[in-house]
Amino acid sequence: MSDQKIPVLDLAPATEDFRAQVIAGLSRDPKTLPCKFFYDETGSALFGKICELPEYYITRTELKMLHERGVEIAAALGPRIELIGLGTGAGTKTRILLQHLDSPIAYVPVDISKEQLTQSTAEFSRLFPALEILPVSADYLNAFELPRPIRRAARRVVYFPGSTIGNLEPRNAREFLRKIAELAGAHGALLMGVDLKKSKAVLERAYNDNAGITAQFNLNLLARANRELGADFDVSRWRHHACYNERDGRIEMHLVSSSRQKVHLSERSFTVEPGEHIVTEFSYKYSPDELTAMGKQAGLCFEQLWSDDEQLFGLFLFRVEDRA
Ligand code: TRP
Repeated sequence: MSDQKIPVLDLAPATEDFRAQVIAGLSRDPKTLPCKFFYDETGSALFGKICELPEYYITRTELKMLHERGVEIAAALGPRIELIGLGTGAGTKTRILLQHLDSPIAYVPVDISKEQLTQSTAEFSRLFPALEILPVSADYLNAFELPRPIRRAARRVVYFPGSTIGNLEPRNAREFLRKIAELAGAHGALLMGVDLKKSKAVLERAYNDNAGITAQFNLNLLARANRELGADFDVSRWRHHACYNERDGRIEMHLVSSSRQKVHLSERSFTVEPGEHIVTEFSYKYSPDELTAMGKQAGLCFEQLWSDDEQLFGLFLFRVEDRA
């Protein structure tokens, strides 16, 4: 299989979908923009830089745990599994996980960024020649018709890294976990990387780096709307703002307008007041108890938690509850 080029199944949202969602978001009060559109080529590259920032401990800690506890994690997942990766991006974490697994049968990475999937698939097919790889470019929140591998696996394991679960509102997160349980099926499991609750100072630093990369990442959403939809956001009149809302346990990412301005898009015009915010993303933080309870409600039974010494981040293993 190694020299063959593996095609990426393309189910990613089209430009018109982006347009419709931007118009809908700007029509709301407060205004919002959908975070899944962060990851065009520029956005994916910026996110790659965020993952290496000294303040952004999330990626580094998950990687460290996969390196240090990989043997244990692989033992808990078992041999000959089918691994489904949701939002695996450049695939750095999944590669380490795969290197520890005992004879995995198949790998189904699902990610919104087709470029990253094409690259990581080429790399993985060289590294793991015996592995069947079935890449799918899609908004995985809505894609649950995944290709089936040729060989039968012992079980399906879903890997959902990067604390992306935190980017969903808790109600949607629970609903999504329920879909994952269904996808994993009988005897299936979920391995999920989740950012844990901690001090406001540490959290706010992670989303307000000194180099201003997170700001560029957030502002790229406006630049992308200009590039792809012909909108006319004046990017210089917006600034990035991220703060931790302790009551709701979430980081809130905003774009704040520095002046009164108008934005035009597809014959519509949106007025923005000085100081007005566009909400671009939430990042909920969970305690282990909260997450275990949420899993339970979704039909997932908590099995194990791997965490770092400072309890910054958790890798949670759940198994699909047996149906009576
Ligand atoms: N899901 C991760 C988080 O919430 C990564 C992420 C998504 C992110 N969007 C981001 C990180 C914006 C920094 C800025 O932390």
